[in-house]
Amino acid sequence: MKKTLTLIAAAIMLAACNPAQTVIKTKVPPRPAGQQDMIQFRAEPIADVGIGVVGLGDRGSGAVYRLPFVPGCHVAAICDVVPERAQHMLDELKDRGLTANVYSGAEDSYKALCEDPSVDLVYICTDWVHHVPIALYAMEHGKHVALEVPSAETLEACWDLVNTSERTRKHCVILENCCYDFFELTALQMAREGMFGEIIHAEGAYHHNLDYYWPRYWNNWRLEFNSKHRGDLYPTHGFGPICQALNIHRGDRLTTLVAMDTDPFNGPKHYKAVTGKDCPDFQGGDVTMTMLRTAKGKTILVEHDVMTPRPYDRMYQLVGTDGYAGKYPTEQICLRSEGTGRISYDDLGGELVIEGEELEKLMAEHRSPILTPELEALAKKVGGHGGMDFIMDYRMVYCLNHGLPMDMDVYDLAEWCCVTELSRISLQNGSRPVEVPDFTRGAWDRVQGFDYAFAE
Ligand SMILES: NC(=O)c1ccc[n+]([C@@H]2O[C@H](COP(=O)([O-])OP(=O)(O)OC[C@H]3O[C@@H](n4cnc5c(N)ncnc54)[C@H](O)[C@@H]3O)[C@@H](O)[C@H]2O)c1
Repeated sequence: MKKTLTLIAAAIMLAACNPAQTVIKTKVPPRPAGQQDMIQFRAEPIADVGIGVVGLGDRGSGAVYRLPFVPGCHVAAICDVVPERAQHMLDELKDRGLTANVYSGAEDSYKALCEDPSVDLVYICTDWVHHVPIALYAMEHGKHVALEVPSAETLEACWDLVNTSERTRKHCVILENCCYDFFELTALQMAREGMFGEIIHAEGAYHHNLDYYWPRYWNNWRLEFNSKHRGDLYPTHGFGPICQALNIHRGDRLTTLVAMDTDPFNGPKHYKAVTGKDCPDFQGGDVTMTMLRTAKGKTILVEHDVMTPRPYDRMYQLVGTDGYAGKYPTEQICLRSEGTGRISYDDLGGELVIEGEELEKLMAEHRSPILTPELEALAKKVGGHGGMDFIMDYRMVYCLNHGLPMDMDVYDLAEWCCVTELSRISLQNGSRPVEVPDFTRGAWDRVQGFDYAFAE
């Protein structure tokens, strides 16, 4: 008995002395009394959604081009801190026989757009620092909001968006276009039909050599942000679509995260090339890897690399008990094969690989329910990353038109974006595990399985 107690005491002491054994917890603010969650939230239908676009750089100007092609909405207002950008966009609208209210010239010009009664939805395409203040102001002034990715860079911002959305009863949507890529849409449908058995592991990434993009960003905002912050700063393109396939907060939830990164080998060189200045204290590692575990025992790997010439890659790999879907480097589906009964060291694969024309045929048989042939044709014609941007806009407007729950809610936004600060906390603590907060505050298994809403 005495020996057992001594052993238990020794184990407790060891855990206390070894910080790697303990999971770091962040603060979960209690839901204020009287406030309800936004799971499956339905707003009043809006027949013709007036959209106010804030930030008219690369993404915002693309949105102003696309949105007039989306049925059930119109661009009601535009805003950029740079007056020439706003004027240029207005001229382009006028060339198409359209017009919009214009707000520009000051950092807080967006406030007047958020107060404009012709605006129902504020569509935010600014640099990262301005996303959240604009979104909060918009919801406080009775508007739904849609935020470019990554929508929030800190845990505090994630909680502010969740709480403000819950309190004001306004949608807060993350504009994660990669959830609407043709491969991701189809693989998600296959997963939902059970073709891969149970999805037990998934990988997603943002590998994008930004050499040619760095100098294009307004005021060098992106490289400045990378220079000041460690962690995965852009997780959602890879992470969002796989969270949908894993039914995150639709029957499962993220519980723990650990991260590791390289030193910033290239970051300071890019900084010098763009600004002409040295940055000896550059924070962001060139490659950051984050691993997560879910309550149901599934695992996820997310990677971020915008600094090396590695080919563009979002990984998007779903690993199931009976099958696999992978988008990069080659689109393929793998299923179990009966095999030949022989072991061959020339061909190590024991799986049935479906790719090329055969894959196209299979994908046509498992189309996403949201992807009608008409929508696919229009999306490819209007474009935006091959059409996925258009499908994203179309679905958001469709749900607002019919008063339906959004495909991506405020909890998706918070879960996908919290990786940034949580990975930083893990990195700054020697890759210690960090608890992923439950942004639904207990409602993560009320809905079972990811689904899209349709009008009756
Ligand atoms: N989903 C995607 O595929 C994708 C691709 C690229 C960028 N993005 C995201 O889109 C956002 C914008 O990126 P970008 O490449 O268009 O950047 P950008 O630098 O080209 O444009 C940013 C614009 O915001 C404006 N702006 C800054 N502060 C403002 C304020 N207070 N009020 C009004 N306007 C303001 C700037 O003048 C500029 O025109 C970022 O969040 C980025 O991460 C998403």
